[in-house]
Amino acid sequence: MSLIVEARGLTKVYRRGREEIYALKDVDFAVTKGEFVSIIGPSGSGKTALLNVLGCLDTPTRGSLELFEELNRQGMTLIIVTHNLELARKAHKVYTLRDGQILGCEDVRCIQER
Ligand SMILES: Nc1ncnc2c1ncn2[C@@H]1O[C@H](COP(=O)(O)OP(=O)(O)O)[C@@H](O)[C@H]1O
Ligand SMILES: [Mg+2]
Repeated sequence: MSLIVEARGLTKVYRRGREEIYALKDVDFAVTKGEFVSIIGPSGSGKTALLNVLGCLDTPTRGSLELFEELNRQGMTLIIVTHNLELARKAHKVYTLRDGQILGCEDVRCIQER
């Protein structure tokens, strides 16, 4: 399995005056080539913060992000963020965020293959 994105211990802290807001708390996230991954979670759970870091639009406060080349060489790799659960479950893997943390990562493909 070749990795496309590997993030470890991603933490994103926003400062508003003296207040510290943890948008991401020690998030591990990996996507392999050809995989279809969805990210779900309620408003404020950190979805946009995670995508901004993965897309290098924002830098994490702590943690590492490694991006690998050959993104689309074999099959399509797709990451979506959605509130549509039916759509989310079409993905191979569903990451659920709550309060800046990965609540769970459901491997839908494994469940369907059982
Ligand atoms: N620029 C910012 N300054 C301060 N707090 C922010 C900022 N952007 C996001 N946040 C806070 O970070 C948390 C995660 O936000 P966000 O990633 O936008 O969640 P989602 O996309 O899941 O709705 C929320 O508590 C939000 O209020
Ligand atoms: Mg958002």
